[in-house]
Amino acid sequence: MTAARRHAREDAPAFGVYVHWPFCLSKCPYCDFNSHVRRGGIDEARFVRAFAAEIASTAARVPGRTVSTVFFGGGTPSLMAPSTVETILDTIARHWIVASDVEVTLEANPTSVEATRFQGYRAAGVNRVSLGVQALDDAALTALGRLHSVREALDAVAIAKRIFPRYSFDLIYARPGQTPPAWRAELARAIQEAAEHLSLYQLTIEPDTPFAGLHAAGKLVVPDNDTARELYDTTQEVCAAHGLPAYEVSNHARPGAECRHNLVYWRGHDYAGIGPGAHGRLAIAGARHATATEKRPEAWLARVENTGHGLVTDDVLTPSERGDEFLLMGLRLAEGIDAERYEAIAGKALDPGRIAALREHGMIEMAGGRIRVTPAGFPVLDAVVADLAA
Ligand SMILES: C[S@@+](CC[C@H](N)C(=O)[O-])C[C@H]1O[C@@H](n2cnc3c(N)ncnc32)[C@H](O)[C@@H]1O
Ligand code: SF4
Repeated sequence: MTAARRHAREDAPAFGVYVHWPFCLSKCPYCDFNSHVRRGGIDEARFVRAFAAEIASTAARVPGRTVSTVFFGGGTPSLMAPSTVETILDTIARHWIVASDVEVTLEANPTSVEATRFQGYRAAGVNRVSLGVQALDDAALTALGRLHSVREALDAVAIAKRIFPRYSFDLIYARPGQTPPAWRAELARAIQEAAEHLSLYQLTIEPDTPFAGLHAAGKLVVPDNDTARELYDTTQEVCAAHGLPAYEVSNHARPGAECRHNLVYWRGHDYAGIGPGAHGRLAIAGARHATATEKRPEAWLARVENTGHGLVTDDVLTPSERGDEFLLMGLRLAEGIDAERYEAIAGKALDPGRIAALREHGMIEMAGGRIRVTPAGFPVLDAVVADLAA
């Protein structure tokens, strides 16, 4: 993104642009993201034109917005040529205003091949990378079907550290056979490398994945509930002790180093979803639109080439749906939600009886007009949200 195309409007409300790259070199057996392997290659130039067309048609619906964050997610965006990333960022800057302090994140797989492209991404305007390290244990990486080793991942982290002002990495825990002491040691090592931000996801057995089949057949055994809880508690304790408290259920950062793009989702602000299977939330003429595009990459491409966009869903949310979503997203954050903003969005107040009961059980707390889930409430967050939203 060229500096000349940037305009400062730091006071504008947060507005994010999510760009989905739906391809991977191989499919990890636990993953149910919208990611596909194409052995025959990908016509990247055709995708670039389609991304540009969808950015233009989205910007025509929500013109004049100031982009505060861009996030290239996947799939594996680090398979994109740097010139693709540059063209997409330039197109965003042609159609919207871009904040001078824009955060531009790209998700990268930590292989040596991908690390060779990091300099190109930086030159294109990316200023933050999120690396899918997943484990600092070679046997675990093999079991997860990853294509990189620990050495390769740490080399990619070192390169990212040199090139990008900000970086983060992901780890998956509660893996088969993982014990709390082993996780404690792995996490402490990760924190030494992570500097300011870590995403730590508990392994989820997603339906219709190879892991789900193995799990159902008893061939893949994940930690039982008590061990999983111990692993979660270890995560909170070790991260907090090293100055990276959880600011969201699975995300830890030094204060001020939070991923601003993900905060756009969790704080209920607007974002545009670009690319196959991308979701968006857009304020148009006073209504909040929930959008989604065609998931299948080639079908998305055909749709964009024929109509200028890949939208398959464009629903106006009711106040009650907006309120539920605000709770669901906002209570994931340690900062919680503003009760008055909930009222303005949902058109009704939260039930005082339910709030009182949840406070009595130590699940939530209130301070300065905000409602926050307590450390005791976070492990049962879904139940807390369901109770408040009922
Ligand atoms: C969509 S992936 C994209 C990142 C990149 N393709 C990679 O795999 O490194 C985002 C993150 O979701 C997490 N993830 C994906 N499937 C998961 C699962 N079944 N359980 C827990 N975490 C998962 C992984 O940590 C991964 O880095
Ligand atoms: S985990 Fe990442 S690399 Fe693996 S299939 Fe999913 S998106 Fe692709």
